[in-house]
Amino acid sequence: NLLEDLISMNKKPIGVFISGRGSNLESIINACKDENFPAKVVCVFSDNANAAGLQFASKNNIDTHTLDLNNFESKGHYEEEILKLLKPYNIELICLAGYMKIITDKLINSFPNRIINIHPSLLPKFKGLNTHQRALDAQEVESGCSVHYVNSKVDDGKIIMQTSVAIEKTDNADTLSKKVLKAEHELYPASIIKLLRK
Ligand code: GRF
Repeated sequence: NLLEDLISMNKKPIGVFISGRGSNLESIINACKDENFPAKVVCVFSDNANAAGLQFASKNNIDTHTLDLNNFESKGHYEEEILKLLKPYNIELICLAGYMKIITDKLINSFPNRIINIHPSLLPKFKGLNTHQRALDAQEVESGCSVHYVNSKVDDGKIIMQTSVAIEKTDNADTLSKKVLKAEHELYPASIIKLLRK
């Protein structure tokens, strides 16, 4: 079975949660193709059935699951269903990659210190949305991205790794987001290596 195969290859099963484009998901899936990478994405979950990233996962023969929060009585019930979906995969780590729902204690307590997120700023600066415009408005000379543990507050939790990116006078939110995204695509796989390679 898949789990035994992964163990023999020294790869840990991980899950990725997305809501949209999925470029970070892509970078993680591509990193996993290296036999020395310590993980393999075994399932992708999305709260949005139209998330573009789901197609990339399917093309790579990775199971995808979607659940619409609107069909559930509460976030608690929603997350209970997510936990049921994840159970058979024996996931070591959940990587949030552009997942736009706040995670509650139900999920967090089921995966203690095993849920991580990527955020496009040098946390603790610029939690939340529109990070690039806010960094420019604050006249920062650098920005970047952070991978951090997830707790029940938005973009909070201990930082695992960060990459900084210089802000040039000519940068706007669009050019800055592209530079940071490029850094994100290296930082997320690097952080997974840091956490899983023992
Ligand atoms: C990334 O900038 C990530 O840092 C943020 O949401 C964006 C997701 O992009 N949390 P993608 O879906 O991975 O392309």
